[in-house]
Formats: sequence, structure tokens, C-alpha cells
Amino acid sequence: MVARNEPEPCREQDWGLFEITKRDGAARIGRLHSKHGPITTPMLLPVINPNIRTIEPREMWEKYGIEALITNSYVIWKHEDLRTQALSEGIHSLLDFPGAVVTDSGTFQSYVYGDVEVGPEEIVAFQRDMGVDIGTMLDVFGRPDMTREELEGAVEETANRAKPSLSVAGSEMLLNGPIQGGTHADLRTRSSLLMGSSESEGRGFAVHPIGGIVPLMEQQRYRELFEILLASKSSLPPDRPVHFFGCGHPLLFPMAIALGVDMFDSAAYAIFARDDRLLTPEGTVKLGDIQEWPFHSHALFGITPQIVREMEKDERSIILAKHNLEVTQAELARCREAIRNGTIWELAEKRSHASPYLREAFVWLQEQLDDPDDGPVGDSVLQIIASTNPLRRGGEGLGEEIDFRPHILHIQALLATRWRVPGSWWDSTSGPPERVLLIEGAPPPWRISALGPVIEQLAEEPRTVVMISTPIGLIPFSLEDLSPWCHLTGPDGIWDPIFDDLEVIEALDEFGLSKTPLVRIIPREEAEEHPEAAGVREWLDRCSVVDKLALLCAINPSDGCKITDEMTSRRSRTDRVVNVNSGGKHILSPRLTDGGISLTTHGASVANELNSSPIPEFGSSEEGSDFPGIPRVCIIDDAIPFVGNGRNVMHGYISGADSHLTPGQPCIVVDSNGALVAHGTPITTHLEMSFLRKGVAVKVREGAMKQDQ
Ligand code: GUN
Repeated sequence: MVARNEPEPCREQDWGLFEITKRDGAARIGRLHSKHGPITTPMLLPVINPNIRTIEPREMWEKYGIEALITNSYVIWKHEDLRTQALSEGIHSLLDFPGAVVTDSGTFQSYVYGDVEVGPEEIVAFQRDMGVDIGTMLDVFGRPDMTREELEGAVEETANRAKPSLSVAGSEMLLNGPIQGGTHADLRTRSSLLMGSSESEGRGFAVHPIGGIVPLMEQQRYRELFEILLASKSSLPPDRPVHFFGCGHPLLFPMAIALGVDMFDSAAYAIFARDDRLLTPEGTVKLGDIQEWPFHSHALFGITPQIVREMEKDERSIILAKHNLEVTQAELARCREAIRNGTIWELAEKRSHASPYLREAFVWLQEQLDDPDDGPVGDSVLQIIASTNPLRRGGEGLGEEIDFRPHILHIQALLATRWRVPGSWWDSTSGPPERVLLIEGAPPPWRISALGPVIEQLAEEPRTVVMISTPIGLIPFSLEDLSPWCHLTGPDGIWDPIFDDLEVIEALDEFGLSKTPLVRIIPREEAEEHPEAAGVREWLDRCSVVDKLALLCAINPSDGCKITDEMTSRRSRTDRVVNVNSGGKHILSPRLTDGGISLTTHGASVANELNSSPIPEFGSSEEGSDFPGIPRVCIIDDAIPFVGNGRNVMHGYISGADSHLTPGQPCIVVDSNGALVAHGTPITTHLEMSFLRKGVAVKVREGAMKQDQ
């Protein structure tokens, strides 16, 4: 094996900055910049006990790709020999680890043993003097069984220690600012506000661990655990990684990550190994009970459980710890990959079935998503939905829980708030609809399976609204190629008609169509040539563009109609619209992979001219409207020459962004006068844009200056 090189230190001005490189709702792949190299998140900090090094830190770096680990500064401080060596040689040399070293402060020892002998400032100074990358202040552990008054005390005392701790940490060491508050959502919110805003000499905390949760995990009180997480997330600055203190069981990773946890730490890999237990992503397995391995690993390849049982205790602990670490790392890799391909929620859904306690928590979470409460938990849940790209490529497995997936909830909400009945019909008349045609019992693509009856019915009655029945609700025909509806996968039977009359009327009521005469049909025949077909299809294409601009770009359908007036289009060999022109100029292309739209620079400019609301500015409020217009990101003058020529918009160069900006959906980039600079796809939300200082905010498709060259 090739030895891994020493880490490249991050630039000094970047220390402590966190960037988001990929996201799936609240789940994010990030990079935290440290003096000893970047730390890619979500990640686990393996706990190293400096007295018992089950796996050597050097081996963790070289063999397991561990970028950062955590050890306890209080344990080092208590042992004279370790303390002296750490202060003279530095923590990296003491541990023989070249990556980033995180230390805890002794708070957990005070929880276990009642007290610690070190003061809050002394232990921070000690961590700083050992050359730690990310230290931890001495917070007050809030046990879930404490009274509310005691927990309030823990929150306040921790907050009181924040500023002096930041001051002692100085400019070289980053600091963890733990959130306490027991199981009280309001105290967690308060703690998050206090700790998130604490500063000394302009420096705040780099990371916020959620503290006091070990007893909840030991008692498998996962519902409360996740409630606390959501309450804390509602009030934490979104540019700081969140660490789940003491959590290292892979079972909890997918759900925690789906809700926005970036870092974990745990000694579980070693402690469980000492107890002859194996970690798996679905729970824990005892070595004594098995004949074959439940999960493969490099450590256990080629040997049987019986061989391991016969090993000496120390040798057995080491080999099982290595296996546990590999399984843990593999599950984190799986989670990161799920973020990249937009399936972290489905992974959490799957894993929730592995434990009844986790299942209870997941079902509670689904209830929150379905009907968010009024408090901080509801705020976080709404934020998760809004930050989730509603469109996906590829199949969407139909299952009982599909209706609770955040991207499904998001697209359903957009459909409910932004779709309107057509303002005019294919025969150029206007006025209310005379008929609703409901297509049932047909699979996608409906442009093929239902085109015949659609044309026939529209030819007969031009004022017909065409709707399609899908297993997850009714949609207008104009969105027939939009993900997720056209991507639902399952056995043929999922397309059988499922809604009775009452259900159909209720669903149509949501669109204001329950009083319009209804025709329900199951298409049977192939489309036949019809004399009106060309005119009807042109109108259907136009409806599709208007409705997608409304749903995905928040453009008022009346503006959409203006843009598409005299629209022309180019079709592919498979008869799908590939280019849409307005006034003879290419404005957008429907995306064949997910049914979304890609604007051209001319289209972005047209959309910009239609947006008459004030240029967004961080800190100023916006008026609520269903159609606030194409979302805009306003950049500062320094960035204009770069972005105008097609470079990405970087955090730190943004002065405002519209709050309805959706990661993954089109946005435009403007200057402070509202002139178009570029257009592209946002990676982060408007709130994140107002906090983050590093990384790409908008992936630019094209700069507006490029065209003029
Ligand atoms: N390790 C596990 N829980 C905690 C906590 O609440 N605070 C600190 N500092 N360390 C922990």
C-alpha cells in the first residue's frame, strides 16, 4: 500500500471556515479548513485514549484515511508524563498523527465522576499550548434527568464561559461551542442562540457540538435526540458544522446526517471491540453468537469468527476494533454517496426499520414533516423541505412512505401554491374551464400513453383542463415529464386507477376544479391522426413551459404567457421539445433527465426584466407572494468581471439573495442595480449565502458578459 502523504495545511485565512460542496436537503458534504488540512464531512472523529491506543493514530491516517481524530485534553492534563510531553513536543507528535487533532475538555469526565479539577480557562489554554487544531471549552453537561432550573443553569453557565474561552483560545486554535439544554427544545434554542453569537475579538466558535446526549443514546431515546437536534439547528449559524457529541453508532448516521449533522465522535469502535461486539449499520452483533461475519471487512477477511474467538484478548480487541472502524467508515462513505446522488432520506428511511426505537423517532419525524409544529422543530423541518431540490434524476421507488420524503413534499407544495388553471385555450379563447379530463390507469410517459384521448377531448372542448392520476396524487398534463411523478417505479399494478369519486373531487378541489364537469378516462388506443393535433400540441407545449416557469422559477403564469407568446420550439428525434424560442431567440431548454428547465442567458435576461421586486439585500425583509419572480443572487462589484465571464459565484461576494432561492433550481445573478451578470444553479440557500465565507454559492451556467465577446 502507498503511504499517505502528510496533509497540506489549509491557508491561514481559511482556518475554521466551512464550505458546502454538495447537499441533499439539510444533509451536506462539507469541508472544514484546519491548520492540519481540510476535514471532509460528514465524518467520524475516532476517540483516541492516549493511554490505550487500540489502533495507532498513524495507522488511522495511513490505512483508514482518517483526516481528524479526537482525544481528551483532561486525560493528558491529569497524567504528568503525558502533559509534559504534549507541552514540549505538541499533541501531533505525542499521538503521532499528522492530520487534524480535536480535543475534548473534561466535561464528560465531570458528568461521569461528578467534577473535574481544572478551570474553564486553564483547560482551554492547555489545549492551545499543545497545538490542538480544534479544542473544546469546558461546558456544563446538562443531563436529561436534571430539573428545568438546573438545565437552565447549565445553559447559562456554559454561555458565560464562552467569551473568556474564545479569548484564551486565541487566533491559532479553533474552538467547539457545545449546545446544552437537556430535552427542552426551547432551552436548546436558547443555548444555540447564545453560543452561536458568542465572540471574542471577532472570533466565534468553529463547530457546535450538541452536548448532553450520551444518556439519551444509551437509553435509546432517539425521538428526543432528534427533537433536540432540530431545535438546536433552528437557531445555529448555518456556516458552522454540527457535531453529535459521543455518537458513533453507524445505525444513527443516516438519520442524523439527513437532519444536518456533520461530525460524529466515538470510542464505540474500540469499546465494543473490547466487549467482543461488532458494529453493523443495522445494530450490534456479539462475536460469541455467530458462525459467519454479518459484514465484510479487510480486517476479518479470510478468518472465521471461531479463529477470532480463539485469539488472545488483546489481539482480538485490536482486530475487532479495526473491523468496527472499517464498518463505521463504510457507512459514512455510503451516507456521503447518498448525499451526492440525492438519496440520503431513502437511506434513513431504510435504516429506521432496523430498530423499534429508531423507527419511533423516524415516524415522529414524518409526522413533523407532514404537519410541522409552530416552534423551532417546525421551523427546522420547513427549512429542510425548502432546501431540498424537488427534482431528481432516475427512478423514484414507490413505497408507503414516499409522501413524507422532503423532495416529494417540496414539489407537492410548489404544485399546490404555484400552479394555475390556463388563462387561455388552444383555440385562443379565454375564460374559465368547461371540463376536466382525468387520465387514469396509464403509465408514464403520458405524452405517449395518453396523447390520443387528450387531443381528441381538447379538439372537442378546447376549454379542457387535462389532469393525470398518479399513485401520489393528481398532476396537470403540462407536468407529465416532471420528476418525481414520471419517474415513479414499481410493478405495473401501481398505475391501476386508485381514487374513488370523493377522493378525486377532494384532489380537484385543491386546484379549484371540483365544480367543473369531470370526464374520467383510461386510455386504450394508440394516438390517431387528428386534424387539430398540431394546434393542440403547440398549446400543450406552451402550457408546459408556463407551468414549469411558475413552479420552478416562481414566474407568474401571466408573465410566462407573455414570454411564450408566439413561442416556437425544436423537437428531438424522439419527439420531445429540446429548445424553446421566444421572439425567435432561444430562451430555455427542458431537461430530458428530470423535466426541469435550463435557461439560456437570453432567457435569464427576459426573466430578470419581468422581476420588478426590489433587489435582494441581506437583512431587509421581502414581501410574501406566490410568484416573487426568478430568484436572484446579488453580488458585489469586485466579483462582477469574474462571474460575468462565467466563473462561479463564491461565498463572501454576495450582498443579497431572494429567500425563495432553491438549491438545484435556476437562479440569476445580478449586480446592485439589478443588471444581469450571469445565471446558474445555487448550491446553498439564501440563509447560508448570508453566513458562509468559503466555497461555491452558485454554479454558473453562463456569464452575461461572455455573449458580448
Ligand atoms: N462528550 C459527550 N458529551 C459531551 C458534552 O456534552 N460536552 C463535552 N464537552 N463533551 C462531551
